[in-house]
Formats: sequence, structure tokens, C-alpha cells
Amino acid sequence: LFPLCPGKTGLHFATAFQTIFLIKGEPPMNMLSVPNISPSESAELGPNAIIEKARELLASGAHSESLTLLLTAYTNHPDEHSVQAALIEVLATTKGYILPDAIVNRLADDALTGNHDLKALATILTIQFENNPQVNAAIDFFENHEIGSEITEVPVAALEAVVGNKLFLLICTKGIAASHEVERLVKAMRRIFLLEWTGNANAPTLLLNCCPEILVGLAGQCFNTEYIYSEGADEAAAVNQLYIGIQQKIEDIHPLDIAVLGCYKPLWAALMGNSPEALEGLMKMAETWPSWVQVVWKAQFLAPCQELFLKQNIEAYTKIEDKNSQLLARQFDAFPNPRWFSAPTHHAKEALGQALKNQLPHLALPLVEADAVSVLFAGCGTGEEIVAFASHYETGNLLAIDLSLNSLAFAQRRTQELGIQNAHFGQADILNITDWDASFDVIVCQNVLDHMESALVGLRALKQVAKQSTLFSLALHSERARKPVKKAHDLLTEHHLQPTYDGMRTFRDTVRNLPADHSVRSLAKSSQFYCASELHDLAFNTSEQCFTPAELKNLLAAAELRFLGFEVDNPQVTLLYKQCFPDDIAMTNLDNWEIIDHEYPELFIDGMQFWCALKS
Ligand SMILES: C[S@@+](CC[C@H](N)C(=O)[O-])C[C@H]1O[C@@H](n2cnc3c(N)ncnc32)[C@H](O)[C@@H]1O
Repeated sequence: LFPLCPGKTGLHFATAFQTIFLIKGEPPMNMLSVPNISPSESAELGPNAIIEKARELLASGAHSESLTLLLTAYTNHPDEHSVQAALIEVLATTKGYILPDAIVNRLADDALTGNHDLKALATILTIQFENNPQVNAAIDFFENHEIGSEITEVPVAALEAVVGNKLFLLICTKGIAASHEVERLVKAMRRIFLLEWTGNANAPTLLLNCCPEILVGLAGQCFNTEYIYSEGADEAAAVNQLYIGIQQKIEDIHPLDIAVLGCYKPLWAALMGNSPEALEGLMKMAETWPSWVQVVWKAQFLAPCQELFLKQNIEAYTKIEDKNSQLLARQFDAFPNPRWFSAPTHHAKEALGQALKNQLPHLALPLVEADAVSVLFAGCGTGEEIVAFASHYETGNLLAIDLSLNSLAFAQRRTQELGIQNAHFGQADILNITDWDASFDVIVCQNVLDHMESALVGLRALKQVAKQSTLFSLALHSERARKPVKKAHDLLTEHHLQPTYDGMRTFRDTVRNLPADHSVRSLAKSSQFYCASELHDLAFNTSEQCFTPAELKNLLAAAELRFLGFEVDNPQVTLLYKQCFPDDIAMTNLDNWEIIDHEYPELFIDGMQFWCALKS
């Protein structure tokens, strides 16, 4: 009916930039205005020169020109990794375009071979789906399909736009799509699969006859988002029936049973209660299943089983006595965070000392003597920051500690999979590391201190394992950017919502039903809204401290630490600061940042990430 992954359909890149067209909504500034370099000129430029020019344009706010230039470069140098990466970066930060299918599919292919940033690609998918009438037609088709009925008219173009969209399948399987459209599609399609499969397995009508492989994407997205999507009473009953059926014939499960169940429950949790013999039989049987079902099996059964094994062998490096720490350990065991799937790619690693000298050229930095730095990841969570750091800088010994064993096990599995050999993991409370006879070149402690009763006490504990030259990489929540979250807390109280799945699902519905101009509505746009542990971290934290730049200044003064600068990803922010405060070349004056943050409260929407060091 509609193929899962149609082969590359004659790509006409030459016309790619011409076929982008504006959609209604908020077009980026200067969309479709003429770029400084014409496409024919750019064909003569090398990829690096084009990327540099595109970055300059982006920094000056000229998204459309930057995008046009990169699409032309992609046309001329389709296999150039740096061009692909730059194009993905710009597409993910630009709104108001619809890309031709051929480009979308080609990007998905490149993502697989070139190991590109899946988070950025997920954003591109979201932007594409938000405004695509074919996607809306597909959603209508699936949501309105009557279970078991014959299909008389197939909206081929609409189905091609989703089921034939390789980016959709890629992100569903390997990432999280923070997209209302993807959520509606996945929910509607999994429902049809479930009800057709459990209702009339001998004569399935719609999806099962055509492409059961799409189930890899559906099960993948439901697992990756930790089953945060709500389900109807008819589905709950059918899942129960499916589960009972599986338990009754555990020696002879149909592969579709597994794939459909994986759309509603994590397979490891559903099946772990069986006897060791039954599980062993199941694992043998799994080897005979079609390869697409094995993808689901590996993600949902084998990988979590490996984490359970790793968890049993994680050493305890300190006691956890503090009451708040005990609470946090339970909370992050239930909702390990962040939930991440793809690793960032840095092609050439740098020595940290040199990299920081380049990044912060105007500062007298402590001397980082080691080429390969030793790092303490204090509150490493699920390890994303370890991978980000180790893929960027030359590293020596890495020690990762956290309160939560489940987070540590996830971190250990993922870092092992990514070939990071020099990381060691242990359960420890930062508050109790003060008597360690150790010191590190770098201490990374991001999004951790804000969970403590006192961030200052946490900082003082970290200082005990620092030496004079230690660099601290810290991240804290922004008071002003988190205003909607504070308001969301009022909503939780008002509706008596608990940090459970039911509570979180009701919360999502409540937020979506708020008036469009209600500040809490903005949370539905956050990627954290689309995954249970992320949503928990966004809105259901039991304790949370936030900071303004002025409060950060006071905190660092009390801890006797020297501020070295924010990590600012957005070049427009740097530009803004330099325009406002041309005399502060180092950009380290927190009073100035306070003024800018006051003016632009969403400046630190992703948190305040910064470097600091001991006072000399
Ligand atoms: C929001 S997660 C952040 C994880 C990671 N730092 C990141 O940014 O990706 C916060 C983590 O801090 C850990 N944590 C909180 N207080 C801690 C403490 N006193 N000692 C060790 N870990 C702690 C939690 O268990 C949780 O895994």
C-alpha cells in the first residue's frame, strides 16, 4: 500500500532552494531576500568558505540567506559532512519553511551514515510537520479510521508524507519528537494496530496488511517518550488482553505481539516477571524474529536488562544520609534524567586548556597543565554530559557520581556503547565527598546544585576536591526563564496533580487546554513536555532553586569562586552583549548580564551554563 522506506527518489538538489516555500505563521526575518552570495557564485566557493559565510549570516539574524546558501552548498557538495552538519544546524534554528521530500529523506540517510545531531533533526521534523497539510490529512485519516473497516480510498500523498518520510521513522526510532503532530500520528496508528491485531488477527485490514515495519517507529517513539501519551479505555482493555494472551503462550509468541505490546509498555517491565527458563526461551525465540522486531526487542528488553545487570555492580562511594538527597535518589531512580539517545559529534578533540584560551581569550585562566584532563562529573545523571565532554576534549580519568543507581546504569551502558573507556561510575552524595583524598582538573556539576537544599553547601563540598587550578563547569536554572514553570507549580496544586503517570498526563491535557496567551501554555512547546522523566524534571521537581545573574554573583562570592564566563551558544546573544557593553570584552560582568536578563527573560531558557575557578 505504501512502502516503509522508498529508495532515494531522484534527488534534484539543484532546485532545492527554489522549492522551499513560505508557510503561514512567523517567517524568519528577511525570508526569501537575496543572499549576499548568489547560488552560482557559491558553487565556486569551497565548502568551508560557504559554511563560514552562512554562519556570519546566521549570526546577523539573516536565517533565510544562510539557509539558502547552505542548501546550495548541499546541492554542490552533498557528501561533505561539514556542509550537512551546518545545514542541519541552520534548519533547526529557522522556522517558516517546508523542505522538499527528497531533501528530508536525504538528510535522514546522511544522519545515519554521518552520525549527525538527532536532536537538531528532531527539531527539523517538528518544524516540517507543524505546517504540512499532507501531514494533517494523514492525521485525519488515521484518527478517523473505523477499526476493521475496509479502506475504499487511500490518501496516498498524505501517507507518503508520514510513512514514506525517512526522517519521521528515524526520529521515532532513535530520538524524541517534541511534536504534537507526531504524537497524534503515533497515538492514532498504534491504536489501529492494537485494536486490529487483538480484535481480528486473521483479517487485519489497514496497517497490518501493508507495513508492519512502521511498528518499529511507533514502539520506538512510545518507549523513548516513556509512554507519556495518554490512551483510551478501549486500548487499556485491549493491551490487557494482549498481555494475558502473551503470558499464556510465552513459548510461542508472535513477533507482532511483541511489537504491538512495545507500543504500550516497556517490554522488559512487562516480561521480567516470567521464570528464568521462560525468559531464556524467549531470548532464543527472539533470534528467529524478523530483524525489524529485533530492533524493538533490543531497545526495550536487551538494553534495559543490561542496565539491570550493571546496576547491581555499581559501587557505593559514600553513604547517602541527607534526607533531601535520599528523596532525590528516589525521584531520579523513578525518572532518570536527561533521556538522551544520540551523541554529539566533534571530529577533532581539543586540549581543554587551549580550547578555553580560544573561547575566553580575554581572561587570565588558571593553568590547565594536563593535556588529558581528569574530570569529576558530580551528579552525572544519565551521562549525556560525559559524552559531550569526552567527545569534545582530550580526557584522562573520568569519575562520574550520582545518587541514582538507575541513572548511573543508563549512563554506564550508553558510554560503553559509545566506546568511552576511561569513565568510572559510583553512587555518591556530593555532600559526603568532602573527606576524599582526591582532586580533579575539572569538576562538572550541571543542573544538580539547584536540586539541593543549599547550592552554596553543595559548592563548598565540591571545592574540597578541587585544587588551585581546577576549573568548574556549572549549570543552574534561570529564575526569569523558569517563571512559567513556577506558574505550573500553582496549577499542580490547584488540580491536586501528583508526580505519577496519571498526574503527568492530566497535566499535559490541562496545559494544552489553557488559553493560548497563558504563560504555562509555553511549556507545551518545550521538548521536555514530550517525555515522562523530562516532564518530571520540568514541572514536578519537589525542590528547585533558581537564580538570576545577580543571585549567581552573590552565590559565587559566598563560595569564593571567580566567574569565568557563560557558555553562550547563540551568536546573537554575544552580539547583543557586545553592543550593549562594548567595554566588557571578557563578558564576565554579572551586573551587565543581570540587565540583559531582565530585558530578555528567556535568555537563559536552557539554563545558565558557565565556567568558574577558585579565587587566586
Ligand atoms: C537533572 S539531573 C542532571 C544530570 C546531569 N548533570 C545533566 O545535566 O545532564 C540531576 C542529577 O543530579 C543528581 N543529584 C542531585 N543531588 C545530588 C547529590 N547531592 N549528590 C549526587 N548527585 C546528586 C540527581 O540524582 C540527578 O541524577
